This record gives sequence, C-alpha cells and structure tokens, in this order.
Amino acid sequence: MRGGPLDDPARFLRAFATNQLARISPAAYVKLTGQTGRGEAGTESAESIAAYFRECFEDYARELDVPLARMPAFLEGKVLLEYGPGDLPGVALLMYAHGARKVYCVDRFPLVALSDKNRHALALMVDGLPSDMRARAAAVSRGQALDANAVEYIVRADGLSGLDAAIDFVFSRAVLEHVNDLDATFRDMARALRPGGRALHQVDLKSHGLHKANRLDFLTWRDSVWDLMYSGKGFPNRHRVDRYREAIARAGLAAPVMRATELARKDEVDDVRPQLAARFRGLSDDELAWLGFWLATRMPE
Ligand SMILES: C[S@@+](CC[C@H](N)C(=O)[O-])C[C@H]1O[C@@H](n2cnc3c(N)ncnc32)[C@H](O)[C@@H]1O
Repeated sequence: MRGGPLDDPARFLRAFATNQLARISPAAYVKLTGQTGRGEAGTESAESIAAYFRECFEDYARELDVPLARMPAFLEGKVLLEYGPGDLPGVALLMYAHGARKVYCVDRFPLVALSDKNRHALALMVDGLPSDMRARAAAVSRGQALDANAVEYIVRADGLSGLDAAIDFVFSRAVLEHVNDLDATFRDMARALRPGGRALHQVDLKSHGLHKANRLDFLTWRDSVWDLMYSGKGFPNRHRVDRYREAIARAGLAAPVMRATELARKDEVDDVRPQLAARFRGLSDDELAWLGFWLATRMPE
C-alpha cells in the first residue's frame, strides 16, 4: 500500500526508533540531536544569530504594518506571548527592549541554552540597540538566564501557555507547523489573548527535508505511519491552510488574513495529486500549492 512502512523500510525503522526516544525523553532527544530551532548547533556564528533575530523583529513590524520607529509606541506596556522561541529568546528580548512590559515564551522542548555563543549573540543584539533600549535589554540579560520578570520561559509537554486573557500580542515563526495539536494551540491562543489582542504567525509548510523528488511528496505518507515516525519529535504536522482556517474558526478567533510566502509549481501539484494521503485529497490545487504563509488574526472585542 502507498504511504506505508514498506515504501522505505530503513527510513521507517530509523524514524520510528528516534521517535520513541523523543516521546519518552524530549530532553535527551534534544541533547542528542543538538537542535537550536534554526538548524544544528555549531553551524552559525554569533553575528549571524544576532542578525537572524533582528530580521525576525523587523519582519513582525512589517507584517503588523507598524513602521520600525513606531514599534516602541506599539509595544509600550503590552504583554506578549511567543510560541517556540528555539534555543534563544532573541525576538522576545528585542520586543522587551522596544517597550513590551513582559514576554512569555512557551515551548514543548527545553531548547533554550545560554551557551557562550548565544551569550555573545545576545550581547551583539544589545549593543546594536539605541542607548535607552540598550539599558533596558542589558539589565535583564546579565545573569545566567534572562530575567523572568521580563522574558519568562515556560516548557510544557503540550507546548501550551495556559494563560488567561493576559496577552495583547502573540507571535511565532516556524512553530505552528510543528505543534502536535493545532486546535489546542489556537484554543490556548484565544484563551490567552485579551479582547482585541492580535496574533501574527509565520508558518513554513515545506517538508523540512523529508521529501524526495517533489517538494510535496511527503504528503503521500499515511497519517498513521507519519505519526509513528515523527509525532514525538516536533516534526512537521503536515497541516495545510484549510486546517488553519478551521482551527482559527473553532477557537473563536477572527477570520484570518493569510498571505502565501512560497508556492509549489503546477507540475509538482499535478504529479503528487494521485498519490496524496487521504486527508489531503479534498484540497484545491491552489491550497495544495502553499509552501508557507503569514497569518494574522485577532481576538474579537
Ligand atoms: C523550527 S523551530 C523555530 C524556532 C524559532 N521560532 C526561530 O525562528 O528560530 C520550532 C520551535 O517550535 C517548538 N515547538 C515544537 N512543538 C511545539 C509546541 N507544540 N508548542 C510550542 N512550541 C513547539 C520547538 O521546540 C522549537 O523551539
């Protein structure tokens, strides 16, 4: 049968074994794989890490349609929530430096590690700020961990914040495609947001290296087999845009504005169509082609 373990037995067995480790001990799995959230540890310089987080911050400002110079006014006094910061809450620190009252960061895996390189990246980010913001950021990044009154890191097995009407703005980048229960994450977001609070997410719908010839052929594996291989590791949940719309509506959030950032070609869509796993067969060609998007929504007043 298509999309089953016998399609690629060696890959199935390898993926199945590491999935069991990730399910039993997420911390051991994270240590073993040396993941940072941006790739493998050791491949980046402190300068490139700092530049990455500055770019993320600027992307959020652009997508919020707030000029960079107006970000302090936008953030002043606001409480923020970031899902999945990776191994360094760099965006959270920049949001705090620009005036946010507090940023909660929630993750399913205990990835944050203030290694020498990450400390160096933090120092570069702090040094690159105007003097008033520099003082604010420096004051909370001096110790062995960021000051939890400014940036609070929460690790939970379900990756949910558990916050209640406490948040003005929630954001994430390259996280929602990894969550194990998309409905639960949007419910958590809706509950965490204050009325009128905004949400902004960048979602990467690509295979994360798990395709072969066609960028969409990872959608041919049956769900049950995919889960056996990847469910515990935070690998892509494979949800497409239709599931995001559903989850947002069910959670009671406002109809989202979604903008594709990358599309598959028509020949990729046509070639994969006859082999798709059951749950993707109802997608239109347009929806199937989405390989990434920005999503903005809000909690109704
Ligand atoms: C690809 S990394 C992106 C990290 C960071 N946002 C960045 O842009 O570098 C995905 C992040 O999502 C986290 N994650 C995975 N599943 C999650 C869940 N259910 N809830 C919250 N975070 C989760 C991972 O541990 C990791 O920190």
